[in-house]
Amino acid sequence: MALLEVKDLDVIFETRLGSARAVNNVSFHIEEGETFGLIGESGSGKSVIGMSLLRLLPKNARVNGKALFDGSDLLSTNDEEMQKFRGEQIAFIPQNPTASLNPLIKNGLQVSEIFEKKGQDKHESWRAALKVMERLLIREPSLSANRYPHQLSGGMRQRLVTGISLSLEPRLVIADEPTKGLDSLTRRSTIEFFRKLEGKHDRSMLLITHDLDLAYEICDRLAVLYAGEIVEMGPAKNVMDDPEHPYTRGLIKSLPRNGLQPLEGNSPSLLRLPDGCFFQERCIIQTVDCTRKHPQLSQYNGWMKRCILH
Ligand SMILES: Nc1ncnc2c1ncn2[C@@H]1O[C@H](COP(=O)(O)OP(=O)(O)O)[C@@H](O)[C@H]1O
Ligand SMILES: [Mg+2]
Repeated sequence: MALLEVKDLDVIFETRLGSARAVNNVSFHIEEGETFGLIGESGSGKSVIGMSLLRLLPKNARVNGKALFDGSDLLSTNDEEMQKFRGEQIAFIPQNPTASLNPLIKNGLQVSEIFEKKGQDKHESWRAALKVMERLLIREPSLSANRYPHQLSGGMRQRLVTGISLSLEPRLVIADEPTKGLDSLTRRSTIEFFRKLEGKHDRSMLLITHDLDLAYEICDRLAVLYAGEIVEMGPAKNVMDDPEHPYTRGLIKSLPRNGLQPLEGNSPSLLRLPDGCFFQERCIIQTVDCTRKHPQLSQYNGWMKRCILH
């Protein structure tokens, strides 16, 4: 059995302008020890999927479907059960992790508190915290431990939050855009860091990112999202080395190493998704059929693709 199995997930936001279909019929699974990526342009629904799993979405969100974690449906548990999943079993590293640090508490203490809660004494906990910080490649751990969050760089703060989350030894880590807004050096070391983390094969990870290089380096499998639905899904290397869907091809072409050819146009409005393929307007190979029929996600070449043109 997969550790996480998401089935037919829909998220609709009720807004003043109408119902926005942010996530459409999304299904995927994550095996024990596997790193699964969700990639796609900004606004494609990546964060909403991650947040829906831990029920962190605002009240105007309507969520349908199932998300079975070790057999229990996260989407239908009560609040008390959900509290047990959050943190202990599933860690969520948000897009802006700084907000989850207490600015008035020293960095080391924010980590050691976790060990104290687990029953270790103050001394042991502090030592354990230093070890965590060392493992996270936080520069000069004992010095950084005695400082406050604002005295760390953005990248280091992000690692600290990651360290706090991982100290709880969750079975699944959901990391939302761990490299967003980092300069190239910090980004590189963050990729290295997540690579090391991924090398520990007992942990499963859902990696949400628009950073295709990061996804390529650390994901076992990935799903490409467009307008809230999966358009391609399969082994990360295959999907990215040899993409099948015209959208994935466009994304790969827009990478700096491929000459930065931008994908023209915008995603459709989530308030009025078209009848046919959601990608039709931007697709360079579209046919009349593409405007009529919504394509299904189907097996092709050993992975999944949502396109009527083979
Ligand atoms: N609270 C909300 N109310 C209405 N629409 C929302 C809300 N939160 C997110 N959305 C919409 O859902 C879509 C997906 O957002 P998101 O998952 O954050 O995208 P990304 O792939 O960049 O993480 C976006 O179009 C966004 O505007
Ligand atoms: Mg996001």
